[in-house]
Amino acid sequence: MRHILRSQDFSKDFLEQLFNTASKLQQDFKDPKKRIELQQRLRGRILLSEFFEPSTRTRHSFEFAGVHLGMMPITTENAKIFSSFAKGESMEDAIRVICSYRPDVIVIRHDEEGSVAIAASVSTVPIINAGDGKGQHPTQALLDLYTIQKELGRVDNLNVVIGGDLKNGRTVRSLAYLLSKFSGINLIFVSAAALSMEQDLKDHLKEKGTKYQETENLQEALPLADVIYWTRTQKERFSDESEYNRVKDKYRIGVEELKLMKNTSILLHPLPRTSEIDIACDSDPRAAYFRQAENGLYVRMALLLWILEG
Ligand code: NCD
Repeated sequence: MRHILRSQDFSKDFLEQLFNTASKLQQDFKDPKKRIELQQRLRGRILLSEFFEPSTRTRHSFEFAGVHLGMMPITTENAKIFSSFAKGESMEDAIRVICSYRPDVIVIRHDEEGSVAIAASVSTVPIINAGDGKGQHPTQALLDLYTIQKELGRVDNLNVVIGGDLKNGRTVRSLAYLLSKFSGINLIFVSAAALSMEQDLKDHLKEKGTKYQETENLQEALPLADVIYWTRTQKERFSDESEYNRVKDKYRIGVEELKLMKNTSILLHPLPRTSEIDIACDSDPRAAYFRQAENGLYVRMALLLWILEG
């Protein structure tokens, strides 16, 4: 069964096929006739989204992706409070019962690392991990890589600055796993020491022979970068608010930082942003984060087609 749980599981062939489909779908949207035809592709199939943590882009882009392909969405946001999980029901029991109602695919976001894999272990339909705690967010990494490919025309031979909250962020982990499949990748991790990348990820990079370095100096890293992938300090993962306040504003990308970037580089962010990228950057053509978010629609449509049509 085609569960989507971790970035390590994607093959290069799969990525190529997925990105070709996503690119074609993006084109199809420009033609009103083709757009209507798309709605026949997965007509009548049911997409269930169970979200235990807040989301704007991930949940909506999955639902819109499904609807544009003719699927019917059923959604629970705030599942922690509004579903029987609040009464103490286990993930396994809930998924077994939900599967008996015959959804075609289930998209889950949860605050505990590993919980989506537990859901997949008992599910009779494909499960998509839309973010599991500090673990992974594999579909975000797919749209991040698709954006790099589209904007720069390649995914090999890149200096990629990945920065912000590397300890608590799941998007940075999934992206680093995915980039480690390509050659000539040099990762430059920029963060406060307290928010640095976890050892397991660094061990993986060593094993794959992917070059990486760690620094607290953003100014020195920016001129080297082909891609800057910046992230929010993950407030919800801090148990101590004073610790969050101490680290949250260490870095801010503004127009002065943009001046240090190559003309050919791009600035990405999974969004939502708080104060880590100044809105004054938005009008710079290198600021690609809104194009990146739009790409999520095409990549998730391509993914639903791959899961349900093969
Ligand atoms: C990210 C997430 O939920 O991990 N958001 C998203 O899905 N685009 C990043 C974040 O919340 O900071």
